[in-house]
Amino acid sequence: MKTIRFTNLPGDGIGPEVMSVALEALEKAGQVYHFECETTAHDVGGIGIDNHGNALPDKTLEACKAVDAILFGSVGGPKWESLPPKEQPERAALLPLRKAFELFANIRPGNLFPELADLSPLRADVASAGIDVLCIRELTGGIYFGQPKTTRQLENGEKEALDTMIYQTGEIRRITEVAVKAAALRGKKICSVDKANVLETSVLWRQTVSEIVQEMDPTIELSHMYVDNAAMQLVRNPNQFDVLLTENMFGDILSDELAVICGSLGMLASASLGTGRNSHDLPFGLYEPAGGTAPDIAGKGLANPCAQVLSAALMLRYSFGLEDAALAIENAVNETIRSGLRTGDISQGENSVGTREMGTAILSHIQ
Ligand code: IPM
Ligand code: MG
Repeated sequence: MKTIRFTNLPGDGIGPEVMSVALEALEKAGQVYHFECETTAHDVGGIGIDNHGNALPDKTLEACKAVDAILFGSVGGPKWESLPPKEQPERAALLPLRKAFELFANIRPGNLFPELADLSPLRADVASAGIDVLCIRELTGGIYFGQPKTTRQLENGEKEALDTMIYQTGEIRRITEVAVKAAALRGKKICSVDKANVLETSVLWRQTVSEIVQEMDPTIELSHMYVDNAAMQLVRNPNQFDVLLTENMFGDILSDELAVICGSLGMLASASLGTGRNSHDLPFGLYEPAGGTAPDIAGKGLANPCAQVLSAALMLRYSFGLEDAALAIENAVNETIRSGLRTGDISQGENSVGTREMGTAILSHIQ
């Protein structure tokens, strides 16, 4: 029997509640598809600060280096919001983890099934067609990491703050390769999003993406769009897109937009793949829901576990090559939603259920 080894980092807020459902889903999928999970939990984020004085404790990082993938919950919350920005859990845990494992490729699938159109805030005639867009975001470059990045005091008494946006062709090339491979398995269309009318990085981005796509697979239909237009087109007519390829900050913004038009942040999973190969000769990856810690409902058993469970499915697919099990988990989530069960974030006034009940239903559909 195959054994899969990963760390689970539940983090803060609703993280631990939804993580426990995801671990049960993996366990159940393992029984059906014959694999065993070997996983240990470690502190990350606010709880890392509380217990070890560090949002990314050394012990946690070491444990992650010893396994093949990371299943991540979410980090941050009001308790740590008064810390200096650099020490806040989001920045002090997630960004260094992305950097440590060179997790350059962030994959965020946006799916809305036609029969669930009522989950979407889009007009019914747009949502009823369903949505199927794959957002591929560069995750370790651009304005998030460029140096210098600082705030300084000027002689005239003013302060000035500075972020630097840098892209090198190698960084653009490797994320474009991921997009080309993904597009080849879907609708063979890539829309690359930039701001080439203003930004130098975008001019290089556009040029490099064009070259790589042409070189790798000229049958792929490539288009380019400015980010402001893309934000608008995404709500106007999301299905004009197949694969959306973009840089770090634009991808951050557009992927939240994609999540909400697909129903809820509580439904959006993500995979962040690194340059390294794991012991299965597949990409090392970090898998996390996009929704955040939802401090308002944390600890109340109300959180939607779907995004965490779907993130676990992505882990099986990309880092362990267990496609059947991944599909079984994804189908189980879809079946659960189809059956009408709703957590508060996706119910519209109807009765809603809690995390446990949702989890039990998902588990029962894994087959
Ligand atoms: C995301 C988040 C992070 C990001 C934050 C928490 C640093 O918004 O994963 O999209 O901006 O990348
Ligand atoms: Mg974001």
